[in-house]
Amino acid sequence: MSEFVLATANPDKAREFAGVLGPGVSLLPRPAALGEVAETGETLLDNARLKAQAVVAATGLPAVADDTGLEVDGLGGAPGVRSSRYAGEGASYAANVAALLRALAGAGEAGRRARFRTVVLAAWPGGREVVAEGVVEGSIVLEPRGAGGFGYDPVFVPDGCGGRTFAEMDPDEKNAVSHRGRALRAFAAALGDAGRGERPGRGRRP
Ligand code: IMP
Repeated sequence: MSEFVLATANPDKAREFAGVLGPGVSLLPRPAALGEVAETGETLLDNARLKAQAVVAATGLPAVADDTGLEVDGLGGAPGVRSSRYAGEGASYAANVAALLRALAGAGEAGRRARFRTVVLAAWPGGREVVAEGVVEGSIVLEPRGAGGFGYDPVFVPDGCGGRTFAEMDPDEKNAVSHRGRALRAFAAALGDAGRGERPGRGRRP
């Protein structure tokens, strides 16, 4: 069983981590006393690393983080790494969605093509890292639809799912096709591979 401190306090993300990774990976909550980590990186990978390393430094334990961006073709790939603050620092999900729809007013089908990208990064004391990425292609709809999910889910329709937004799917359906679901399954596979590679002499009695 692998054990990590989850380097996000976002309950929406935490639910998806637990739902996809299942009982084979134990997730400890992020210490409440640890302040927010400024996402000053230029890339999703930089920010995932900043978040995971801050938790490793504070706890001395392995930590896992994700960073996610929504890339919209008609906006030159924005909001991307700035997805959480598209409408300004500390913006609500609803404000970010409204800003996105305003920016896309008048955009055609091609301009509304978009993808979510998630980078998952685990860091250990001593510097070891495991990194995985997941992407889901889709498009941005004209009006929010659905009450599930979080963030930009009400305006993102993944390809191949009958035209429903992520917010119109139940959590398992979203996880089956989503950026985070894909990144976490790749992460779990990478952990398994790394574990198999390290097995001789590790965690065994002499
Ligand atoms: P973060 O920087 O990884 O915390 O995420 C950036 C922003 O992307 C979040 O504030 C959400 O608005 C949005 N986001 C992240 N993951 C998802 C998702 O699975 N669905 C919809 N929006 C998401």
